[in-house]
Parts: sequence; C-alpha cells; structure tokens
Amino acid sequence: MKNKNKAVWGTRFNSATSKIFEKIGASIDIDKRLFEEDILGSIIHAQMLVRQKIITKDKGNKIIKGLKKIRTEIRKNKFHFSKKYEDIHQNIEKRLFSIIGEDAGYLHIARSRNDQVITDFKLWIKKGSEEIVKKLNNLIKSFLKQSETNINTIMPGFTHLKNAQPISFAHYLLAYVEMFKRDKKRFISNINYIDECPLGVGALTGTSYKIDRNFTSKKLGFKKPTNNSIDSVSDRDFALDFLSSASICAMHISRFAEELIIWNSDVFKLIKIDDKMLTGSSIMPQKKNPDPAELIRGRAGKNFGSLQALLTTMKGLPLSYYKDMQEDKALVFHSYDTLLESIIITNELIKSLKPNKERMLALANEGFTTATDFADYLVQNNSLSFREAYKISAKLVNYAEKNKKKLNELNFKEVKKMKKNLNKNVMKVFDVRNSVNLKVSYGGTATKNIKKMIFKLRKEFK
Ligand code: ARG
Repeated sequence: MKNKNKAVWGTRFNSATSKIFEKIGASIDIDKRLFEEDILGSIIHAQMLVRQKIITKDKGNKIIKGLKKIRTEIRKNKFHFSKKYEDIHQNIEKRLFSIIGEDAGYLHIARSRNDQVITDFKLWIKKGSEEIVKKLNNLIKSFLKQSETNINTIMPGFTHLKNAQPISFAHYLLAYVEMFKRDKKRFISNINYIDECPLGVGALTGTSYKIDRNFTSKKLGFKKPTNNSIDSVSDRDFALDFLSSASICAMHISRFAEELIIWNSDVFKLIKIDDKMLTGSSIMPQKKNPDPAELIRGRAGKNFGSLQALLTTMKGLPLSYYKDMQEDKALVFHSYDTLLESIIITNELIKSLKPNKERMLALANEGFTTATDFADYLVQNNSLSFREAYKISAKLVNYAEKNKKKLNELNFKEVKKMKKNLNKNVMKVFDVRNSVNLKVSYGGTATKNIKKMIFKLRKEFK
C-alpha cells in the first residue's frame, strides 16, 4: 500500500492528516522565528555526536554543511516553509534530506523535538530578554535626561489624585527610573536562571547513547545541563517568567501613560506633548489627542493576557510533554513584540514631553499642600507632639479655606492666631520650594538629594 502520510512519522499512518487539523496543528508560521536557534542547536548536536563517535565525521560534516546551507536560505528568504511539515524542526529536517539525502536521518539520534524545542525556545528567550534590557537602558537614559532639566521644576505630588505635598518633577521621573531598573533586574535574573540546557534529554527519559550533555550545554552558552529529563521537557516556567516580567514592565509603562493622559488633559494642563506624538479628530478641528499614550496603556492588556493564557494552559498538564504547550511560543512572541514597541513608544513620549512649569508651580500651591510642613514646623520649633501640631495645622487649613486663600497667601497675623509664641520665620514653611528642599531624608525629594541621585544613575547608565 502506498504511504499517504508525508510526515516524519508517516510509516505508521494510513491516511493523510486532516486539513483542518493540519491548519491548527501546524505551528510553522509562528515557530519559524526559532530558525537561528534551531539550526545552531542541530549543529552543536551533530558536533557532539561526532565527538562521541556516535556518527562518523563524514556524516557529521555533511549534516553541518547542509544545515548551514538551510540557514543561508532562510536568512535570504529563499526557504519554502510548509505547513505539511508542521513546525520549524521538521521543516528543517525535511529540507536537510532533500539537500544531503539519507544521511540527514542520523541527526535525530539521541534527541527528540521535545528537548529540541525547549532548547531553541530558551535560547530565543535569552536573546529576547537581552534585547528588552537594551531597550530599557535607552528608556532609562531618556528619563534621566528629562530629570536633569527639571530638578527645580516644582509640581504637586498626588495621593488619591488629590494634591498631597510639593515634589520636584525630576523626583517623580526618577521614580519611574527605579521601576524600570527593577524590570531590568527581573529580565536579567530570568536570563541567569534559564541557563540550564535541556538538549539531550530526549522525549522524556534521557538516552542510551553515550552523549556529552556538558559539551552541548557549554557550546550553546548555557551554564550546565538540566538535572531531570522529565522536568526538562515539561517545564515552561522560563516562558512564564518572561511573560510575568513583561507584564509587570507593561504595567509600569501603562501607569506612566495614564499619568501623561491625565496631565495632558485640558483640566490639568501640566505637560505638553509634541505634535508628532498626538493625533487629530475627524470631526473636532481643535483636538490633539494623546493616542500613542493611550495605545501603550491599552496594550498592557495583551501582555497580561498572554501570561494568563499560558498559566491556564499549564495548570492542568500532567508531566511530561503535551501538544498544549506548543501554544507557548505565540504567546511569548506576541508579548515580546508588544512590550518592545511599548518601550520604544514610551521613549519617544518622554523625549517629546515638556512640562508646563508655571502651571505645575501654580498647582503645587493649590490644595494646601504645605499643611504637613506647618505641622512639622510646630513639632520641630514649638515642641508639640505631631498629633497636636496636626490639629493646629488643620485649623489653619479650615481658616484659609473659609477665607478663600491659599496657605502662601496668609499673613503672619492670621497664622499667629492658631498658636501662641510663633516665630515669624514660620512663614517660610508655606513656600513650596522650601517644602521640597526640606525633604532631605534619604530618597526624599530635596534638590540636593536629586542631584546626587542623578549623578549616581548617570554613572550607572553611561
Ligand atoms: N512544535 C512542537 C512544540 O512546539 C515541538 C515538540 C513536538 N513534540 C511532540 N511530542 N509532538 O511543542
């Protein structure tokens, strides 16, 4: 009987794969992105088979030459990817047969697609994480640049979106630098512990051939081989770590985008964004909308969705490999592409943003933002407990509110009514700039602190 199934496993199959299954079963459109890693992994595997005398040098060289030819074909867009061969591994294997003939069949000794795919995927995620770290470095540098020019820009700091206490705009920007630094650390720590090579564990048990896993592991840039063959092919933690780090980073970016949208609103008017990062309306001629910021805020949902999807895929899977796991690549690639674009757009946004300094200063004086400073003054100069001082300051706020005055518009006579034995120098606490510069505790918003911090960060991000 003629064999109707063209797959690698066709010998045992009496009918061709159903068309509809071929459509969803084939992952080639997605996993062709792994071709560099897949070919590198195969070359190193072939080298190891030769070294261990499992295949002859002749065959090994022939295989490696063929693989390199395939790599050139793919790089030059001259490779025909076929759904019939399901995934990147089999597409390459089939092509190897057509280039070097039956000797291609020696390459798959002592390995399975199960260990092959995670080796490829781990290598790819390492590369992808390094790219994200690079882009985060650029982003941090742009935040530092914007901070440097805004050390003396005073704005209201918010809690509950109500004016809380005056801060420096630079200090606010440096808060995001801390967030992006943590994101960087997360991706770097993933890279460090992804560093175990699964190649050689076979389908799930290991192999009877005398392979050298230390050799392949080292050659592929891993620290060591994985310890347990079953865990190796079942594990997708490294993909989840990537997706989780991407989600947290996207969440940070989304918070920043949200702030820009609020600050750019006609109600706040705290910043101006360059026209190149705005769009118009098809009906309202006056409009300039912050679409890029809205898009990166919206797209964070895609990053979270990918994480949720893979967690859900994994949660019910017994050990070891199941086809369910094939979906992991689409999720990771999708999250990677989304995040990378979001980081780049955020970088454009921070560069194209100008604070409205007068408005920031004016708003910093709204909402009685120095009331806490007045309370602190009373503790420090009039020996009150903080709770007593708090009450006196609250009374002053009530008075100012009733008389429709800001705290910096009160005169000494009015302030003195709240507390006996007040020195006239109390009046300086109502100056927002003074308020900022009093916050000298480590990590506080005082100009002196910010300058030191920027200096330190500048050295870190040259
Ligand atoms: N394309 C497959 C994947 O990504 C490769 C592993 C296939 N292994 C198997 N036992 N069917 O998961």
